[in-house]
Amino acid sequence: MGNPIAHSKSPVIHSRFALQTGERVEYRRVLAPIDGFEAAVRAFIAAGGRGLNVTVPFKLEAYALADRLSPRAAAAGAVNTLRFDADGIYGDNTDGVGLVRDIETNLKVELSGASVLLLGAGGAARGAILPMLERGPRSLTIVNRTAEKAQALAQQFAQAAREAGCVLSGGGPDAVTPAPYDVIVNATAGSLAAAVPECDDGAFGTGTLAYDMMYGAQPTVFMRHAQALGARISDGLGMLVEQAAESFWVWRGVRPASGPVLAELRALLAASA
Ligand code: ATR
Repeated sequence: MGNPIAHSKSPVIHSRFALQTGERVEYRRVLAPIDGFEAAVRAFIAAGGRGLNVTVPFKLEAYALADRLSPRAAAAGAVNTLRFDADGIYGDNTDGVGLVRDIETNLKVELSGASVLLLGAGGAARGAILPMLERGPRSLTIVNRTAEKAQALAQQFAQAAREAGCVLSGGGPDAVTPAPYDVIVNATAGSLAAAVPECDDGAFGTGTLAYDMMYGAQPTVFMRHAQALGARISDGLGMLVEQAAESFWVWRGVRPASGPVLAELRALLAASA
């Protein structure tokens, strides 16, 4: 459920997961009116709906609507997965764990002990922080054009960082250390406007994975910039598939294999280039 929704690849992903696992799942796009999210959810439940993915611009409304929240959804302040249980609406957020699985399982870069630079301090960045901290990075630096928002996030997650043994800090672009990070995640909305977020070139090295949460038929400007500086690059297509796999698990209690579906989507995307 979203607005707009026509572009969503999720029906393809979940139909593949359903085939693979033998689960009887019907998953379709639902366009909700901008001012009618809750009514659309209630109508969906009344029609027998069992769960929803929620995307832009409704993730905060879905958070507010849930009767119970997973710890990661509570930390993210946003919900992308709803499940309709006998005792009410359960809200979860699978975006952050999707990012972590893509980095660790698909791209084979360990976050444990890594120095991580997170660019952005909006909803997408916030959702990634707890799942990343849970992997035990050595340091996590949150950098945002508007420094105060990054500082506020660093404060909010200070306790979780202490428990993870991670040095967590936040600030403006001047908080970037001009020496290569192990992982740089672009969680800004910059790629939508073909803008590279301000970040010292020295942060990128040959041992750096530069990850953009966005994806498209062509590499984003952030990815091209990072590649020119010698970094290894990835877009966010794997994150999309991994968050879907986690949502499927939340609804069905069955874990689909994401690899073949990611390969198929990658081929489709390349063919559309
Ligand atoms: P989302 O839910 O996608 O995270 P958001 O909550 O609106 O969207 O957050 C957008 C993020 O992208 C913010 O961190 C924003 O920076 P500000 O907090 O300073 O606005 C960042 N952003 C958007 N456009 C950007 C650009 N051109 N350069 C750098 N950062 C940008």
